[in-house]
Amino acid sequence: MPDSARAGEKTLAQDPEDMPADAGLVFIGHITTLWQDHHACPKSGTQAQDTCTVHLDPRYQDGLKSVESCSHLIILYWMHEARRDIIIQAPAFDSVTHGCFALRSPVRPNPVSLSVVELISVNGCTLKVRGLDCLDGTPLIDIKPYFPSNDSVPEATVGWHKQRSHPDRRSTDL
Ligand SMILES: C[S@@+](CC[C@H](N)C(=O)[O-])C[C@H]1O[C@@H](n2cnc3c(N)ncnc32)[C@H](O)[C@@H]1O
Repeated sequence: MPDSARAGEKTLAQDPEDMPADAGLVFIGHITTLWQDHHACPKSGTQAQDTCTVHLDPRYQDGLKSVESCSHLIILYWMHEARRDIIIQAPAFDSVTHGCFALRSPVRPNPVSLSVVELISVNGCTLKVRGLDCLDGTPLIDIKPYFPSNDSVPEATVGWHKQRSHPDRRSTDL
């Protein structure tokens, strides 16, 4: 297990990757983006204006029926390069640590991430989208329609984020 956790951080005794559990998850494709390394990668999809490409494995193509009618999608992806053992984390924009489940960090026991993206086009099994924040080659887990009626909660709050010690950093730094 790597031991490069920041001050105040806490790691799990056992890396979840070594634990016996299997949800039967299959990668259904992959995502190509402009970003090969973390420094270049946007911190959240809302910061990202570049077009990314979602490649669905052709065996699932029938599942795209009617997707072209959606303006926005929820894309779920697997942060394949993320550590999975830091349970309390020290984000760069705060002097206070937080649990991984209070953060949108890719570092978590199951490194599942999501973004709401704008759908630009669908061509066969290839979707062009805007609003992703993942590295080139990130595995794809799922695609869902974004329903503003169900998925938007305008009054939602994240208390610790309002009180973070470096509010000068972009509010989308999660
Ligand atoms: C803060 S996370 C947010 C992810 C997603 N939008 C969410 O909220 O669940 C985005 C960061 O994850 C990192 N990242 C992107 N792709 C990754 C990958 N395939 N493996 C590990 N880390 C990745 C990059 O540093 C990127 O800036």
